[in-house]
Amino acid sequence: MLGVCYYPEHWPQSMWKKDAEEMRELGLTYVRLAEFAWSKMEPEEGVYDFEWLDSAIQILAEKGLKVILCTPTATPPKWLIDKFPDILPVDINTGVTRGFGSRRHYDFSSKNYHRESMRISEVMATRYANNPAVVGWQTDNELACHDTTHSGSENAKHAFHLWLEKYYGDIDSLNKAWGTIFWSMEYQRFDQIELPILAVTETHPSHQLAYRRFSSEQVINYHNDMIDVLSKHCPKHFMTHNFIPMTDTQADNFALAEKLDFACYDNYPLGRTDLFFADSDTDTFKRYMRTGHPDFSSCSFDQIRGISNDNFWIMEQQPGPVNWAHHNPRPLPGMVRLWSWEAVAHGAETICYFRWRQAAFGQEQMHAGIKRVDNSKSPAWFETEQFRDELAETGFDLKAKVHTSVAIIMSIENQWVTEIERQGDSFSHQLVEFEYYSALRQLGIDVDFVSSNDNLADYKMIVVPCMPVVSDELIDKLADSQAHVIFGPRSGAKTDELTFAPNLGPGNIQRLIPIQVESTETLRADCTMKMLYKGASYLGSRWNEALSIGDKVNTVAQFHNKQAAVVQNDKVTYVATLCEIEFLRVLLNDIALACDIKTYQLPEDIRLSQRGNFGVFFNYSGQAKRVEFDRDVEFVLGSEEIAPYSLSIFKRN
Ligand code: GLA
Ligand code: GLA
Repeated sequence: MLGVCYYPEHWPQSMWKKDAEEMRELGLTYVRLAEFAWSKMEPEEGVYDFEWLDSAIQILAEKGLKVILCTPTATPPKWLIDKFPDILPVDINTGVTRGFGSRRHYDFSSKNYHRESMRISEVMATRYANNPAVVGWQTDNELACHDTTHSGSENAKHAFHLWLEKYYGDIDSLNKAWGTIFWSMEYQRFDQIELPILAVTETHPSHQLAYRRFSSEQVINYHNDMIDVLSKHCPKHFMTHNFIPMTDTQADNFALAEKLDFACYDNYPLGRTDLFFADSDTDTFKRYMRTGHPDFSSCSFDQIRGISNDNFWIMEQQPGPVNWAHHNPRPLPGMVRLWSWEAVAHGAETICYFRWRQAAFGQEQMHAGIKRVDNSKSPAWFETEQFRDELAETGFDLKAKVHTSVAIIMSIENQWVTEIERQGDSFSHQLVEFEYYSALRQLGIDVDFVSSNDNLADYKMIVVPCMPVVSDELIDKLADSQAHVIFGPRSGAKTDELTFAPNLGPGNIQRLIPIQVESTETLRADCTMKMLYKGASYLGSRWNEALSIGDKVNTVAQFHNKQAAVVQNDKVTYVATLCEIEFLRVLLNDIALACDIKTYQLPEDIRLSQRGNFGVFFNYSGQAKRVEFDRDVEFVLGSEEIAPYSLSIFKRN
């Protein structure tokens, strides 16, 4: 189940047939087309040219390839912008209009753009509804990428007023909910309310949270309307979207994916490792710059599986160096194959590579493809061949589900809250979530990312790395579940209007464990505090809470000053500090064993992922490493000795 992103419009038509033949030779099934081709499909308003696309689809179809078409809305053409300048979004940091000249230059609150987007979507859907080669649709492209969820436009402001009125009903309710008496901010009418941008200093946190909720809904409504238009004409085609991570969309990806048949992820391990670690942690960056961090892509895979209504796809897989990170290293030989297997081990059903041939011109000409600009084969070709053959040889079941009894609860609202009220510069929601995830993965535990709306009944262990806003419904659900729940610091500390929990932190979590947060301090990341757990010493850092402790609560880890660092009762473990991954690994291992969850002592840089009857060991290091493993398995690729930058696959009998 392989595919590729292809741009026939970038190449002379005389090349298309050979391209299609070679795609078949490589074993590809799917070709994604047209997500940036609006100016070619509609060169002038109402003047359509689809002949080139018809021909491209036909040529691909003649070779047996299936086509995924995209709506071209990430790139509105110049004539459209000139006709409706209010399509352009406004930068929330400067108030300056973000101009034409790249992509994603549109405002989700522009009614003109909404109408034009649905029009072009409908034209395409009507034209290709009965084309047998077309099997599915990708909406737009990487919604919200390049910081486009928020706009500071007049359109956005007007839509925000209507949203506020609907949400709060009357202005007094809003004043009360936010606490606008603070700094003399009481309002008499909704239309007095500015967007929370470009003020002298920090704007009101409740105001900011409302603006983020509103902006997320604008993206979701636009996207849902597009799916409706496409599904009306193409009820049998699948609908999907290629997501970037939730931390980057600033929108609620669970809601965004709700109407899709399945979700796709665009996997750029090196680009993302660079963006994530380059500034903060040079050692980690150097170590993984050509492989990607062992838990980074898999974290995104597990998150995308969490929002998808079925197994997910990789719509874009990095094939070599990209062009858009701070630095763009070449992957080590074997990594494109390894990443492909890793996606499959975490639940991917299909892997599409980005892109067929490296572009000869334009912004991404330094971005590798499966083929080079001169049409020779790049290393990704050969790794794709290897992966294709291994899929066939091992008989890996691409329809199987990942099953695990461990879940992490994620939610965009909580990311928003910690971004709005950061309290310490070294607090990063993404990093905190990642640290818990990485600790679990180092124990060989597979992880589901779930929303608090999901069914949690079957999990034995539920991890909540950082959730300042916890609903009463979630507390009820957790109380009813069999799971032991681990909360990270600042959980439960806020109401859903981003005001202080009236009973102090951890708010309604006190129903599960009687503790109170009496005060909070934040520290520089390099100002660590020693803590003791079962006689061994570890480091806490960045965020520390002073707890008062009620009945039947044990202090299991303590700071040197005797302050509690981790407390526990039968149901809950509360971690009152951020801490190094080494500590989380030890703590979570103990809890997992107590919950009857199997853990593994894996060598450094080895990861284990299981799906259906298969399991895969990945080696992210340059040395061969041996694993001790269950006796009842049979290796179908490699052995207990995992080769460097490679993998071994086993099957349970
Ligand atoms: C994203 C986009 C593609 C392309 C690649 C480059 O994933 O969807 O259009 O820009 O990145 O890596
Ligand atoms: C952003 C996205 C990437 C990729 C690049 C390309 O960084 O997150 O997936 O699309 O832009 O410019």
